[in-house]
Amino acid sequence: MKKTTVILALLAMVSVPVTVNAQPRTRQPQQPMKWEGLADTPQMGWNSWNKFGQNISEELIRQQADAMVAEGLVEAGYIYLNIDDCWHGERDADGFVQPDPRTFPSGMHALSDYVHARGMKIGIYSDAGRRTCAGRTGSYGHEYQDALQYARWGIDYLKYDWCNTENINPRGAYTLMRDALRAAGRPIFFSMCEWGTNQPWEWAADVAHSWRTTGDITARFSGNAPQRGWGQSVLQIIDQNAPLRKYAGPGHWNDPDMLEVGNGMSVNEDRAHFTMWCMMAAPLILGNDLSNMTDETRAIILNKEVIAIDQDRLGVQGLRYKSENDIEYWFKPLVDGDWAFCILNRTEEPVDLTIDWQDFNLTDDEVSGLSTSFDQITYTVKDLWNTSVNTGRRNRIVTTAKPVSVTVPGHDVILYRLTPQSSK
Ligand code: GLA
Repeated sequence: MKKTTVILALLAMVSVPVTVNAQPRTRQPQQPMKWEGLADTPQMGWNSWNKFGQNISEELIRQQADAMVAEGLVEAGYIYLNIDDCWHGERDADGFVQPDPRTFPSGMHALSDYVHARGMKIGIYSDAGRRTCAGRTGSYGHEYQDALQYARWGIDYLKYDWCNTENINPRGAYTLMRDALRAAGRPIFFSMCEWGTNQPWEWAADVAHSWRTTGDITARFSGNAPQRGWGQSVLQIIDQNAPLRKYAGPGHWNDPDMLEVGNGMSVNEDRAHFTMWCMMAAPLILGNDLSNMTDETRAIILNKEVIAIDQDRLGVQGLRYKSENDIEYWFKPLVDGDWAFCILNRTEEPVDLTIDWQDFNLTDDEVSGLSTSFDQITYTVKDLWNTSVNTGRRNRIVTTAKPVSVTVPGHDVILYRLTPQSSK
């Protein structure tokens, strides 16, 4: 008896650790994944490339950071300050990448501290090949080391380019960097930039927070780029991005490239460009010199009601419902039954139009399933740019009960927010 009790007691003692040790074996191995919760709405910020190209320095970045605060851009939601190509120096003896000592002598940690202290987040750029597009050090073969370095510096955003990648598998390369960013332990927004060459919309929702859908934009409203990749006009980009709406949504956005507002187009064109990016739920990454802006540029990029169309929590990319004689009618469903409605005039001449809302009873079958139901619902109409001149006295309440007459200037838009007023 005594012997049995001792044996049972011993068994009981050893059985405890056996049970505990058994637990990890039953757990599922953790799947690598992108950082979640960073892109519930499209990202907003500034990037150095469109205006400054290769001529960047820590001084410029600090100057733009100061301007972002002083101009109220941070308060309006432009949170990321992104350094594009040409910050890279060489790797150190251990293979860790260093900033260019001539242009970023204080180092990236000091710069990220500077940006964070002003309530912003900081972004950086690299490339999946051995060299970036401008020939600087790329991340190929050093992905985990680079991600770790960015995390140590306090970086919050990575734009990852696709130059010099012959024989590299795109899905593999971007997934590798996603996993590296995850392993580095700091939430970093992952912005893919392979120009839509490998249809990223079909496979990248789990890989990145946004993917470029086109080649590079230029500050030109219409016309076609000589080559597919470079120097595309605003209209050319809209036409490539518009059909991809079903792939976009919270956490994973189509990116039709950065903004050119304030970089040389007319005010009408800048307004139309900005509006269409908001209608398409595109990332709003400014590309102008923030320390030297006109009032017209300010009025465009700081229009909070227009930004709210882009940032709407429903997260649906707008749809081009009708196109006639280069006049386009766009709708974007918003939260609480609201809709954004936009007319884009692609021609250079102003056009007078009468909007009969009953022509626009539509259902968004492709994405949201929502209907405008103008035959059953009356909406109040809010003119977000105050540019449609024929609606009568300013501030007069216009509804969808009756047709509205408008003039849309050449290369411009009208943009309305429609809010359900009452059911008939
Ligand atoms: C590519 C990208 C651009 C920019 C440049 C930098 O062209 O598409 O957005 O980052 O590289 O060299």
